This record gives sequence, structure tokens and C-alpha cells, in this order.
Amino acid sequence: MSYLSSEGIAQLPSRFRANLINSVTGYKSCHLIGTRSVEGHTNLAIFSSVIHIGSSPALLGFILRPLTVRRDTFANINETGYFTVSQVTTEMHHMAHQTSAKYEEGVSEFTATGLNEEYLDGFEAPYVAESTIKIGCRFINHYTLAENDCLLVIGAIERLYFPDEIQDSDGFIRIDKAASISAMGIDGYALPVFIDRMSYARPGSEPSVLSNDT
Ligand SMILES: Cc1cc2nc3c(=O)[nH]c(=O)nc-3n(C[C@H](O)[C@H](O)[C@H](O)COP(=O)(O)O)c2cc1C
Repeated sequence: MSYLSSEGIAQLPSRFRANLINSVTGYKSCHLIGTRSVEGHTNLAIFSSVIHIGSSPALLGFILRPLTVRRDTFANINETGYFTVSQVTTEMHHMAHQTSAKYEEGVSEFTATGLNEEYLDGFEAPYVAESTIKIGCRFINHYTLAENDCLLVIGAIERLYFPDEIQDSDGFIRIDKAASISAMGIDGYALPVFIDRMSYARPGSEPSVLSNDT
């Protein structure tokens, strides 16, 4: 069993430490964030930190690295107030990974990677056509984390697109049926397997399976 203390972690070579700390907290969501500048240039970048913030109102958030260098995603969100979140699938994760490359300002990662822009119902930011689950968001707020200068960016969920057949009758989305993949660390990808859904947990009652049909 390996053991590391905080001092041991701090002394690791930086890339090794980044790989370790980025991957040890578990599977992460894997999305492409699409934006468009006020001049009309599109931008696409992969993010593994998109999280559910709340359902009433429907909000999501993601963590952005410090603004020490140009960050096109944030600049566009800040300027236009809109962004899209498209889930990465098995079919396109190599192209999705490539969006993390630092292209010149004005070079669209859509063009550079071959992923296709899709505009739906007049929403101004582009979705990824190849994606099966797509969310249109309005920028609400951002918070700078005092501990490391990363930003927590919050968006209101304004549009939602997904195939009918992946939704259970109670609203739950079976993302495993959409071939959505999960991110491991900063460069690993995995395809999770659904096990079951559990009934609402109450003190004094045994855990029970709600559904396990695959
Ligand atoms: C799998 C993966 C996950 C990533 N997740 C994040 C993330 O959550 N936050 C972040 O700021 N950058 C993340 N990145 C890095 C961005 O994709 C990268 O910095 C990108 O160039 C940002 O694009 P932009 O400058 O156009 O905004 C991730 C990269 C990879 C490969």
C-alpha cells in the first residue's frame, strides 16, 4: 500500500504530482464547452470539472484554471454571456482531447479538430453536432477561489437536448446509454458501466434496488 503525507506530496516532481492528484479523486465528467466571441469566432475546449450545482433553479458549474494566460472560453463567456456544454462520447474523444491544445487566438478548435458546430433554436453559442447530450447555458456568475486563483464559473441551464430513449420515466438520464465517457486525470478516458439505481435511503430501512435493467 502506498502512503503519502502532505509533505511527501509537496516534494513530488510537478508533472507526477499533477497526474496523481488529478486522477486520485475518481471518475470525472467529460464535456466540451462551446463559445463564440462577439466578433463571431467560435471556440471549443474540453473540461472535466463540469458539475451539478443545483436543480431549482437548474444550475451547473465548472472550474477554470487561473487567468494568468489567455483563456478564450472564459473571455467569450464573459463577453457574450452564453456557452454550451456538450458531453464527450466514445466516437469523438480523440478529437475532444485535441481541443485542449493551445491554438492561436482566432483559430477555431471546431475547424482544427473536425468536430462540427451546431446551432439550435436561435441559441448564440455553438453545440457539438456529434454529441448526444447538449446543454445551453447563460452565464450567471464566477467566483475566484482564494486557495489557488481558479475560478468557479456558474451557468443557468436554459436549453437541454438528449435522445428520448435514454430517459427513465421519473426523469433520470441514463448517460451510459448515450455512450458518454468519463475523464480520468488529465489524459485518461473510460466508459463506465451502469450497475443499478437505488431507492431513496431512509434511516432504519434496508438499501433496495429501484432498477437494474440495462
Ligand atoms: C481531459 C481534460 C480535462 C480538462 N479539464 C479542464 C478543466 O476542468 N478546467 C480547465 O481550466 N482546463 C481544463 N483542461 C484544459 C483545457 O481544455 C485547455 O486549457 C484549453 O486549451 C482551454 O481552452 P481555451 O483557452 O480556449 O479556453 C482540460 C484538458 C483535458 C485534456
